[in-house]
Amino acid sequence: MSTTQSTIFRDAIDKGLEGVVACSTAISSIEGATLNYRGYTIEELVEKSTFEEVTFLLWNDRLPTRPELQEFRAQLLKEMTLPTALTDLLKSYLKSFPKSGHPMDFLRTAVSMLAAFDPDTSDMSEAANRRKALRLTAKMGTLVAAFERFRKGQELASIDSNRSMAWNFLNMLMGKAPTAEHEKIFDTALVLHADHEINCSAFSTRVTASSLSDLHSAVTSAIGTLKGPLHGGANEQVLVMLQKIGSMSNVEAFITEALSGKQKIMGIGHRVYKNGDPRARILRQMSQKLTAQIGKPELYEMSVKIDETMLSKKGLMPNVDFYSATVYHSMGIPTDLFTPIFAVSRISGWCAHAFEQYANNRIYRPRGEYKGKTGLRYGA
Ligand code: COA
Repeated sequence: MSTTQSTIFRDAIDKGLEGVVACSTAISSIEGATLNYRGYTIEELVEKSTFEEVTFLLWNDRLPTRPELQEFRAQLLKEMTLPTALTDLLKSYLKSFPKSGHPMDFLRTAVSMLAAFDPDTSDMSEAANRRKALRLTAKMGTLVAAFERFRKGQELASIDSNRSMAWNFLNMLMGKAPTAEHEKIFDTALVLHADHEINCSAFSTRVTASSLSDLHSAVTSAIGTLKGPLHGGANEQVLVMLQKIGSMSNVEAFITEALSGKQKIMGIGHRVYKNGDPRARILRQMSQKLTAQIGKPELYEMSVKIDETMLSKKGLMPNVDFYSATVYHSMGIPTDLFTPIFAVSRISGWCAHAFEQYANNRIYRPRGEYKGKTGLRYGA
């Protein structure tokens, strides 16, 4: 390496940017096995707050007053309805949507389409970004529910502004009102997935925002990133794995074979948490209760066996995607919607990251260590 280059490059490459501090943030923090949003532990927020309030917290660096929360909730619920022209467009898009297409592909495209219907798309002022964030956060769940209803040739229920976002989402998705228990469980899942420091999709939100591209573009990038099985796509794969394993007696052999083939066990392991993911602890309790309620306790028991086997064999623990899979399954949610549902919550965190990035921006532009050929002559 030349002297000039060594002043530019650091000596080591941090593959996967492990341990690299890419930006400063005040949105959420991981301290040991604790996750905080704006200084509050997720355990306290799950107990005392709601997804709507947590979204306000993430965007404003403080909890709302009671009137502020009422106003914010009302705005979110009002914005949950999709424009009729977009609904028509989505229905016709679904007619040509390939059978092998994933709902995350639909969601990524639908969010791009939303940009065309948003009067503020190209307005980069802070006020416009907040209006767009509100619409995106409100509409994300409606888009996911629309996919489910429209693919079955059914219509979308209208929004009940006296109910929560969690209630309205489940009502639209299932075509019937959720029980109070399911509403609370789903709201808890939304709170738990809302943000997670500089995770892969928050980073891609920030990277796209750092070129001063608009919020819809940043969120579209984030959805593409979340889709991957090493990130949000893992929750769907956990259920696929449990169904493949089939029974308790197959767990050990399945894991042994997967590990000897260098395959990853989905929902296990984490870049940051080495002593357990606090979100998984909360979801585990919910999974136990719900799988018993639907008469499939073996799904939870197999999960626990995988959890314990991976700890003893590899020293790895479950992440948020592990027990959320059986929670969603027990609620009757189709497996291919697990990752889109992650986006229904994480949109709140993505918007908070975009706000933070725009407010203190410098374009992300790292370097690559060139290992390719040099000095070739064209035509030689
Ligand atoms: N199953 C089997 N082995 C795993 C594993 C898993 N789920 N997660 C990590 N490992 C092993 C790796 O094979 C590697 O072992 P080695 O050192 O013997 O080669 C070691 O643990 C380090 O893994 P690595 O993939 O480098 O960790 P990472 O920090 O880059 O990746 C994850 C973190 C979360 C992407 C990774 O744990 C993973 O792929 N988990 C499964 C997917 C998942 O659940 N994603 C959701 C994340 S919230």
